[in-house]
Amino acid sequence: MSRFVAPSLLAADFLNLQRDIELVNTSEADFLHLDIMDGQFVPNISFGLPIVSAVKKQARKPLDVHLMIIKPEQYLERFRDAGADLLTVHLETCPHLHRTIQEIKELGMKAGVALNPHTPVSLLEEIIPYINHVLIMSVNPGFGGQQFIESSYEKIRKMKTLIGMTGSQVLIEVDGGVEVHNAARLIKAGANILVTGTSVFHSGDPRQTIHELKTAGL
Ligand code: DX5
Ligand code: ZN
Repeated sequence: MSRFVAPSLLAADFLNLQRDIELVNTSEADFLHLDIMDGQFVPNISFGLPIVSAVKKQARKPLDVHLMIIKPEQYLERFRDAGADLLTVHLETCPHLHRTIQEIKELGMKAGVALNPHTPVSLLEEIIPYINHVLIMSVNPGFGGQQFIESSYEKIRKMKTLIGMTGSQVLIEVDGGVEVHNAARLIKAGANILVTGTSVFHSGDPRQTIHELKTAGL
């Protein structure tokens, strides 16, 4: 199965965003992960549409936008216009998830659903045939630099089994506390997309760290 690495801009140097985006452009990273937080669904505020648009002008990797906001259905088109290529909404914020997913795809983006650590993968059973990826939160969403929740390995395995039962090609993205030392185990459990902020941008050599994430366990 394919493996992708998606550095999260949340841990970049916001005074040197252009430099850090360029760093990702010239690395083996596959996507650039952007965390949108509203101070409602999660207890933190990050950045919004104008930053996504600015990042899009510089980025040569597809933008993987992770919406940690209430009522995400009100903003789908604006995130598409700002440059999102993949758009992920949280199950916990979407009473009409099927409709929201259809709209994301009709707008031309890849559609994903994210799960908080306490949300069981079984709740995705009916939506799996309609989505492109699932995002398993391996920390509580809202902040970078948190400790990886160990039960996430088992959750990824369960997710993989569920996807296998439907015969679909849904990718599993894991987000939070991902580092070089747990990357191989995450891939073995079934993860396809590794999101990581701190381990890349706070590393002495981010491009080398991205290379190590791409090759861990091979
Ligand atoms: C957390 C975000 C993550 C975060 C990951 O709510 O969804 O994408 O940037 O950061 P690290 O890799 O530092 O855990
Ligand atoms: Zn994220």
